[in-house]
This record gives sequence, C-alpha cells and structure tokens, in this order.
Amino acid sequence: MKEIVANITNMSKSFPTGEGDFWALKNINLSFERGEFSGFVGPSGSGKTTLLNILGSLDTPSKGEVEVLGNQIHKINQLQAARLRSRHIGFIFQTYNLLPVYNVYENVEFPLLLMKMDANKRDKMVKEAIEWVGLSDKVKSRPNQLSGGQCQRVAIARAMVKKPDLVLADEPTANLDTENSLNILDTMFKLNRELSTTFIFSTHDPKVIDYLKRVIRLRDGEVASDDPAPGI
Ligand SMILES: Nc1ncnc2c1ncn2[C@@H]1O[C@H](COP(=O)(O)OP(=O)(O)O)[C@@H](O)[C@H]1O
Ligand SMILES: [Mg+2]
Repeated sequence: MKEIVANITNMSKSFPTGEGDFWALKNINLSFERGEFSGFVGPSGSGKTTLLNILGSLDTPSKGEVEVLGNQIHKINQLQAARLRSRHIGFIFQTYNLLPVYNVYENVEFPLLLMKMDANKRDKMVKEAIEWVGLSDKVKSRPNQLSGGQCQRVAIARAMVKKPDLVLADEPTANLDTENSLNILDTMFKLNRELSTTFIFSTHDPKVIDYLKRVIRLRDGEVASDDPAPGI
C-alpha cells in the first residue's frame, strides 16, 4: 500500500475582509502519496498559494482537517509547525528568496544550521545538493552574480539538502525563460525519481503542466478536476 503524505478533508479557508469573510478555498478533499509529482493549476486568485501554504503549515485551515506527515495542521502549534517545516518540508518560491549576503554554499547550508548536525556531515550534504543542481563551480558566488535560472537551482538545492519528504514549489518557473524552466523541471523530476521526494507545485505554466503526473485544477477556490497526466 502506498504511503499517504498529506490528506485534506472537507477543508475550507476564509480571510476576513471589510465586507465579511472571503472564502479562498471551499470544501477541498485531496490526498497525496509518497513520490507524487503533482500540481495545482489555475488562474491567479484561484487559491493555489493558499493551499500550498496550508500544506506547508505556514497557514491553518478555517474548517476541516489537514494531515501532513502525521501532523494535524488544523491543531498544530507554532513550535510543532516550525519543526515539521525544518525537518520534512522544502519550499521553492517564484522569487527564489535567497539570502543576498550569503554565497551559494551558505544559502544551501542554511536549513542544516537549524538542525543539530556534525560539521563534516553537513559539509558533505551541502556539496552533494549543490552537485545535484549542477552548480559546483559556483559555490562562492552570491545571488547577484547568478542568473535567474541559477538562483532557482540554488533554491532547489536549499529545499532538497535535508532530503525532505515533501517539496512545495509555488510557481517556480514564473520568472524564468523556457530553457531555464525546462532545466529546473528536469532537475526536480530527477530528484523526485531518485529520492522519492513528493513534489506539489502551483503553476499556470504549460511547460510545468506537461511535466506533472497529476493535475489538480482549481477554480474560485474549488477543485474543478483532478486527473492523472501522462507526464514525461
Ligand atoms: N491574507 C489574505 N487576506 C485576504 N485575502 C487573501 C489573503 N491571501 C489570499 N487571499 C485571497 O484568496 C484568493 C486566493 O489567493 P491565492 O491563494 O494567492 O491564489 P493564487 O495563488 O492561485 O493566485 C485571492 O482572491 C486572494 O486575494
Ligand atoms: Mg499564488
């Protein structure tokens, strides 16, 4: 039987506004298995980021239940959420979110500094993650010395260095040209296969959708369809 990584049951999310509550997500029911390469697809405002944030324990649902790697996100406290994120979840953002004064090595090392780990082991893991994304010749470069594609590869290495169970990638190709988009998709797909990491994307980029093995379409905060895709 496949291991369930995340399970969402009758989940809704509202935000308070001047005119009352706005329901950004409505009655979501979804489940994700280990090793999936799946994504939320929908226009801007359809609820993709809100859903990824809840799966990543950065936000909590207003109604229903969300379980991620055995943690109940609807009940979790901040310390438990921080521990879940630092050990088990990697995040990749549209804008890379690298630390500008740190070089490539230090950016990738950062998540490991939050975990107790011996320095030799940490060094080995950082170098390995930088190698996965093909940037071993850039370890000393800072983000402003790199292209957008290279910055996103650093962000992938940073997300993957601790070998998380789950990677959440919010529109990771939105600022990249076609060549760089395909390059980072190849890298993530390879890591998904080799490390059995579960990837969940949010996107409206057709290049990303082509890579996904499961496409969950969102429309106005609801799941409009949920289909296996042939992928590559
Ligand atoms: N903190 C917030 N306060 C109020 N409304 C929000 C907040 N976050 C998101 N929303 C609203 O929820 C809807 C879904 O947003 P989002 O999840 O960011 O969509 P997407 O990522 O698909 O573009 C949008 O209408 C957005 O304006
Ligand atoms: Mg978004």
